[in-house]
Amino acid sequence: MQTLPEDGFGTLAIHAGQEPEPVSGAIMTPIYQTSTYVQDGVARPRTGHEYARVTNPTRTALEANLAALEGGVASRAFGSGLAAMEAILKATLSSGDRVVCGDNLYGGSERLFRFWERYGVEFEFVDSADPEAVRTGLQAGARLVFIETPTNPLMRLTDIETCATIAHEAGALLVVDNTFATPWLQRPIDLGADLVVHSSTKYLGGHSDVIGGVVVVNSEPLAEALGWQQMATGAVPGPMDCFLLLRSTKTLHVRMRAHCDNAARIAVWLDEHPEVERVLYPGLPAHPQHDLAAHANVILEAVATGICELADELQHLQARVRGRLSLVTAPILIAHGAHDRTARPADARKIYAGVSSSIRELMFFESSAHVVPVDVDGRRLAEAAGDFLLGHAQVRSG
Ligand SMILES: Cc1ncc(COP(=O)(O)O)c(C=O)c1O
Repeated sequence: MQTLPEDGFGTLAIHAGQEPEPVSGAIMTPIYQTSTYVQDGVARPRTGHEYARVTNPTRTALEANLAALEGGVASRAFGSGLAAMEAILKATLSSGDRVVCGDNLYGGSERLFRFWERYGVEFEFVDSADPEAVRTGLQAGARLVFIETPTNPLMRLTDIETCATIAHEAGALLVVDNTFATPWLQRPIDLGADLVVHSSTKYLGGHSDVIGGVVVVNSEPLAEALGWQQMATGAVPGPMDCFLLLRSTKTLHVRMRAHCDNAARIAVWLDEHPEVERVLYPGLPAHPQHDLAAHANVILEAVATGICELADELQHLQARVRGRLSLVTAPILIAHGAHDRTARPADARKIYAGVSSSIRELMFFESSAHVVPVDVDGRRLAEAAGDFLLGHAQVRSG
C-alpha cells in the first residue's frame, strides 16, 4: 500500500465537489430532500436534474468528493456496499461470463457471487495474493478480476499493481474492494485498477449511522454504465445518507490517522501477550506481507479459552456499549456467519477455512490515542470502552 501526502488528501476531503449552495450561499451542501424537480418547459430541466433516482445534487456532491479522494474519473453512489458491488456485476457481465476473484472476500460478497451463479456467471475463487494463481485463473478468460485488499477478516493483501497488469494482459477489468484501506491508505486506481468499490458503511462513514456504497471508476464509459444502473435498477442512496457521508469524508484523514496509530499499538500489545497465538496485522515486521503494507487494522487469533467463554464475555460487552462503534467482532459469527448456517458447496467451505471459530477481530473505528486494552478478557475491555468512542461487540450466539 502507498500512503498519500496528507496535506493534499485533507484538502480534497474537505473541498472536492463542494460548491456553496447557489440560492442562499450556504457553505455546506444541503440535503436536497426532493423526489423530482421543476422544469422550465417540456423536457427543459432547470439545472439538469429531472428525477432523484437519476440524479440528486447532494448525491452528486458526494460522488465528486469520493471520485477525487480515490483519484478516479467519476464515482456513483449506491444504497449499500453490496448494492454497489452488484451494480458493477450488472454493468459489466452477461450470462456465460467468468469472474476471477479473491478467495478471502467479505462473506456477503461471496454470497452475492453465489447468487449470480444462478444466472450463468461463473466465479473462480483464487488466492489473489499469489500472482500465478490469478494468472492461472485467467487462462479460461474472464471479464472481471475482483479482489479485496486487505481482506475482511484475515487481512490478506494483494499486490494491486501486479494484479492489474495480469488482469489487463488477459483483457479483464480489475475491481478492488478498498473498504478496509480507504483512499487515505491506498488508491487502487493509481495502481492500475479500473473500478474501486467501497462499503461506505465502514471507514468512509465512520460513525455507524449510514449504510452506503460507492463505485469509483477510471473511465467515462464505466461512469456512464454505472450511472445507467442507478437510473435503470435504482439502488440509490437517499440525500440524507449522502449528506452524512459527505460530512464524514471531511474527517477521513484525521480518523484514519487515529485508527492506524491505535491499530499499531494494539497489534504490538497483542503480539507480546502470552495468550495470543498469532496476530494478523500486516504492519508488524514479522508479517509475511509486511513489505506490501504500511498500516492496517488488527485481527487476532487467540488460543485462549474457547469461543463459548469468549462469546459470553462479549455478550456482556455488547450489553454495556450497544449502539457505539465496533470494538470487538467475531467474524465467524458476524461477517462470515452466514457461511456456517446455510448449506454451501464444499469449495466455498474451503475458501473460508482460514476463518476459524477462535478468531476474534478487533476493529478500532474512532478512538483516542490512549486506547490500549488492558486485557483480552471481555469484561476488562468493556470497562475500558467507557473511556473512548469505541464500542458495540456484535456477537450472536450459536
Ligand atoms: C470488505 C467489505 N465489502 C463490502 C461489504 C458490504 O457492504 P454493506 O454492508 O455496506 O452492504 C462489507 C460489509 O461488511 C465489507 O466488509
